[in-house]
Amino acid sequence: MISIAIDGPAGAGKSTIARRVAQKLGYLYVDTGALYRAIALHMLRAGKNPASPEEVIPQLEAVEVSLRYVEGEQQVLLGAENVSESIRTPEVAAAASKVSAIPRVREFLLSLQRDIAEQNDVVMDGRDIGTVVLPHAQVKIFLTASLEERARRRWKELLEKGSADFGTVLADVKKRDEQDSTRAIAPLAQAADAVLVDTTGITLEQSVDRMLAVIRERLS
Ligand code: DC
Repeated sequence: MISIAIDGPAGAGKSTIARRVAQKLGYLYVDTGALYRAIALHMLRAGKNPASPEEVIPQLEAVEVSLRYVEGEQQVLLGAENVSESIRTPEVAAAASKVSAIPRVREFLLSLQRDIAEQNDVVMDGRDIGTVVLPHAQVKIFLTASLEERARRRWKELLEKGSADFGTVLADVKKRDEQDSTRAIAPLAQAADAVLVDTTGITLEQSVDRMLAVIRERLS
């Protein structure tokens, strides 16, 4: 099986780019952030503080998170409920960043992620895929863009769904960067053998082409 690991900060365009790359290669696209978001949603619904290991860990027993693919599109399930839409809110994103800093939560999701990659050719995106989840991935890419550009992209996405304030989005992205990069376990980091792709100032199509070029070169 072939694994392409894509890591990088929030808003670098990872999910859109990785999805397109997976489509072009005919691989399964796995968005691992959705798993952390699903756990966060569960905790919020249960009234638990997502930053508190004491509150979160006992709840994990009650969480049944799984991925399903319908016509190639990933859906995230909590029990039998498809939560793919409900997890796309700023509140859930902030809570996901918090639960993801709890080691037990990361362990809880590890085998799920590895099992998928054992059974499928995958393009898997996240924060620690090349460093922890799939250290033997044939291709590792660290995808990034400047803080301002990432915030601008997030802001535009949110504007399409309703109103959003750029300053707030910028502060949120910055905070999440800090949380994700400074946590003690599996922090966001570029693997030593990852290729850096910076998408600041280039279009989505150009980013996809650049990634495909890196992947083809590495696989050849
Ligand atoms: O990529 P995203 O915004 O959907 O991710 C939500 C949060 O989950 C993010 O703040 C960090 C965390 N995450 C992680 O710790 N490890 C991953 N492999 C993917 C996401």
